[in-house]
Amino acid sequence: TLFPEMIRDGFETSITGRAVEKGLLSLETVNIRDFSVNKHNRVDDYPYGGGAGMVMQAEPIYRAYEALVEKIGKKPRVIYMTPQGQTFNQRIAEDLAKEEDLVFLCGHYEGIDERVLEEVVTDYISIGDYVLTGGELAAMVVVDAVARLVPGVLNNDESAETESFHNDLLEYPQYSRPEEWHGKKVPEVLLSGNHKKINAWRLEQSERRTEERRPDLYAKYQEKQKVIKKLSAKKRIFIHMMETLSRGLGEILYAEGKNVLIYLPEIGNAMLNAEDEEHLEKMLPLIPKAVSGHSIVTVTDRWNERVSEILGYHGSMLCSQACYTRGEPLPVRHKDIRQLTVEEVPYVAEHYHLGDEIYVRERITAGDVFGIYIEGKLCGFIGCHNDGSMGMLYVEDAYRRQGLAASLEGYLINKQREQGMIPYAHIVNGNEASVQLQERLGLNLSDPAIWWLYN
Ligand code: ADE
Repeated sequence: TLFPEMIRDGFETSITGRAVEKGLLSLETVNIRDFSVNKHNRVDDYPYGGGAGMVMQAEPIYRAYEALVEKIGKKPRVIYMTPQGQTFNQRIAEDLAKEEDLVFLCGHYEGIDERVLEEVVTDYISIGDYVLTGGELAAMVVVDAVARLVPGVLNNDESAETESFHNDLLEYPQYSRPEEWHGKKVPEVLLSGNHKKINAWRLEQSERRTEERRPDLYAKYQEKQKVIKKLSAKKRIFIHMMETLSRGLGEILYAEGKNVLIYLPEIGNAMLNAEDEEHLEKMLPLIPKAVSGHSIVTVTDRWNERVSEILGYHGSMLCSQACYTRGEPLPVRHKDIRQLTVEEVPYVAEHYHLGDEIYVRERITAGDVFGIYIEGKLCGFIGCHNDGSMGMLYVEDAYRRQGLAASLEGYLINKQREQGMIPYAHIVNGNEASVQLQERLGLNLSDPAIWWLYN
């Protein structure tokens, strides 16, 4: 940036400032002018070909970038803030929140020499269809939206989960004291203490508000609800698809009754159910390329061979699904269960063998892994996978047979239920210990199994 103080001033106050103080985030500003190659410290010049305004030159920006690469020790993701970029949204915020380092390049004047953009920029992001005087405010918008997704930045009571855009719905209206203001009363139901009723009221308000204010979002929401309803006829088999949709993780690529193809753009996997061959053949060409790369397709029923053949897959894994649909929360005997932080990446990576360290770090950074502590010592964990299913369950040998796994899973189930989710897990065929645990906790197990296919 050419205006570091603007960024620092904006960042030091409020929640982001507190997060910096707590050491959860750090912010550095780099003044491009310090890398000027001109004795008057100039960083801009006239555009070739003529036209209004000045253009930021390539060399100072490139030097600033090189200094950053040297400092970070690797090439970071460099985001150029420009109205020509992809329009920023919550999904992009979630994607950026997984990174360890982010560099924002803020332009001024009429733009930046294209050649340096080609060499350093990895992402082009706009914050909307209007033109600002520079990229600083836009970068601050993105930084703020990303920062609040970093575990610990928001207090528990400022939960990042249940708010607008999580699931194509706007947030419901909020009220605080006094009970009556300007003759307007707080809606009765909010004073009732009945959380089931409160949640139902809030959902209805969210729906009504979205329909009125964002008909585009509402149409998307309705389409999803229709599919979820169809699938809910066989909840035990389709819980993964239903939850993927209701949590806003998946997009519908095909839906015709229970014939559904869902794509999870963030992780590049797909979920498919075909009731007959005709529908299967219609869906197969719609499976995105990313899926035929390294990721996995989940298939219900009997089409494993055909899907594997089309995608060139060789691996498969038979699982049953378990979901928790009871009305009441589970008792959790062990109380010291905490959300893990990146400090615990080595511990989790050492003991969780189905994913690599990158995956473990990503899951922990997303705030989706929880550890159980006995006398202050971490001795097990559970997590929520990037597709939303529960898993990654581990308890140290010395602490087994004491109900720690039940406490961990009970804790996660309760947490997800509070957030309006139906908790579910995939259990690899033959894992009897897990089946027993699921049955003990009162989860429903699917009988017809699902298949994970991969290459
Ligand atoms: N720089 C100028 N206008 C912008 C916008 N709308 N989004 C991002 N960066 C910008």
